[in-house]
Amino acid sequence: MKTNKKATPTVIVIYGGTGDLAKRKLIPAFYNLFIENWMPENFAIYGLGRTELTDDEYRKELYDGLSEFSRSGTPEKEQWERFKESLHYFPSNINDEKSYKELLSRLEEYDTEWNGRANRLFYLSVSPRFIETLSLNINKSGLATDKTKDRIIIEKPFGYDKESAVALNQMLTKTFDEEQIFRIDHYLGKETVQNILAFRFANTLFEPLWNRNYIDSVQITVAEKVGVEDRGGYYEGAGALRDMIQNHLLQILCMVAMEPPASFDAEEIRNRKFDVLRAVRRIKPEEVNHYAVRGQYSEGWIEGEKVSGYRDEKGVDEKSNTETFVAIKFYLDNWRWQNVPFYLRTGKRMQEKTSSITIQFRPVPHASFPSNQTNSVTPNRLTINIQPQMDILLRFMSKRPGLEMNLNSSEMVFDYDTASTQTPEAYETLLLDAMLGDTTLFMRSDQIEEAWDVISNIQKVWEDKGSVDFPNYPAGGWGPENAEALIARQEHVWAVNTHSKDKKK
Ligand code: BG6
Repeated sequence: MKTNKKATPTVIVIYGGTGDLAKRKLIPAFYNLFIENWMPENFAIYGLGRTELTDDEYRKELYDGLSEFSRSGTPEKEQWERFKESLHYFPSNINDEKSYKELLSRLEEYDTEWNGRANRLFYLSVSPRFIETLSLNINKSGLATDKTKDRIIIEKPFGYDKESAVALNQMLTKTFDEEQIFRIDHYLGKETVQNILAFRFANTLFEPLWNRNYIDSVQITVAEKVGVEDRGGYYEGAGALRDMIQNHLLQILCMVAMEPPASFDAEEIRNRKFDVLRAVRRIKPEEVNHYAVRGQYSEGWIEGEKVSGYRDEKGVDEKSNTETFVAIKFYLDNWRWQNVPFYLRTGKRMQEKTSSITIQFRPVPHASFPSNQTNSVTPNRLTINIQPQMDILLRFMSKRPGLEMNLNSSEMVFDYDTASTQTPEAYETLLLDAMLGDTTLFMRSDQIEEAWDVISNIQKVWEDKGSVDFPNYPAGGWGPENAEALIARQEHVWAVNTHSKDKKK
C-alpha cells in the first residue's frame, strides 16, 4: 500500500478516451491527483478513440466533465492551464497496426525527452469484446516490452462466467505477467472499504470477538436508488448477480471475513482474501431457491416522482428475465465463521442509496435485569456505512439516567466528516496505486475465477429457468418479499436506516 512516494515518469494511454468513464471518473481522478501533488513530475495522458478530435477539442470536453463530475468542481484557471498541457488526444483504430506504431513513436519521444524509459499505463475502458485484440496488438507492436514499467488496467466486467474469465486470464498472461495486470473493482478503492482493514487489524478491541463465538450474523447491503439509466443494453446481459455480487459484494465479504495478514504485502493480503472465497460454501443447484432470491423492479415512486419499471427502460427487452435485485445467504466453511450466516443484498431502484455492513453480535448469555427490562436488552451491533454516509456505529446498552434501572440502546459514532472534509474518490486511490505498481487493491486472476465459481450454480439455475413472477418489487421499495422471508427464517431482519445522519435528525 502507498506511502507518500511518487511514481517515476509515466505515460497513461486510455483506450475509450472519449467514453463516459474517462470523462466522469478517470480524468477527474488524475486531475485531483495532480492538484494534490501526487502525479509524477513528468507525465502525459493520451485519450484514444475512433473520432477525429484535436487536442483542444478533447481538452474542452474533459474540462466540461471536470466541472460537472470532479469532487473539486470547476478547475482553477492556473491549475487547469498546467494540467491540460499533459492531456492529448490520439485518434486510433484498434484493428489497425499503423495506429499502434504511430503511438509507439509518440511514446518514445517522451523517453528521449525525459532521459529514460517512462512507465506506460494502458487503461482499457472498452467493451470486454475488444480486450483480446487490444492486448495482443499492444504486445505485438512493441508498446509494452518492459515488464517492470508497463501495466494494463482492465475494467469490469471481467468475463461473463467462470469459463470466460479463465480464458481471458489465459489470454492476458500470454502478453503480460500477473504483476502487470490491474483488474479494477472500484469498491476496493473506496476509503470506507479500505478502512475495514485498519479497523480490524489496527485495533485489538474487536479482533478477539470477530468470529462465530460472538458474531451472530453479517449483512452486506449495496442499495441504489438509480435504475439502469442509459446502460440497459449492457445490463440486460449482466444483471445484478454479475454486475454487483460477483465483484463488489464478494470483495467486501473478503475484507470482513479474511484472516489477519502477516504483512501488508500485496500478495499476502490477496492470499488471505482468496482463502475466504475458497471457504464460501458452494450453493448446489437444488439449493438455489432456498439460499438466493432474485427480483426485478416494476414502476413505482421515488422521492415523489414516478419512475418506470425495468422492462420499460431503454435497451431492455419487454419480457426481460434479467434480475435487478439479488439477496443471498452464504456460509463460510472454516473455523472462524462456521454457521454464521452472511447475508448479501443489492438492488437498483431501492428506496435509498446506501451501502453498509452490519455485524450483529450474539445476545448476552443471561439477562440479569428486572423482568420488565429483559426484553429491552438488544444485542450489540456494529454498522460500517460505506456510502453515501461514511461512518462507523457501535450500538450498545446503557442505563437510562434516573432512579430506576431502565435500559437504553445507545450508539458510539465515528463520522468521516469529522476526520476529513476531502475524501479521495476510489479511482484516485486506484490509479495512483497502478502508477506505483501496487496491486494490493486489485483483483488477482485466481480471486476473479473463484468469485465466479461462488456464484456459478446460481447463474446456471437462473439462466436455465426464467423467473415466473418478474417484475416482483416496486421501484422505491426494498426488494421482493422473498428477500424478507430469506432472512426471517433465522429470525433476522435487514438493517435499514442505520447511519448516524438519520440519528442526528
Ligand atoms: C458498477 C456497476 O460497477 O457499480 C453499476 O456496474 C453500479 O451498475 C455501480 O451502479 C455502483 O457504484 P457506486 O460507486 O456508485 O456504488
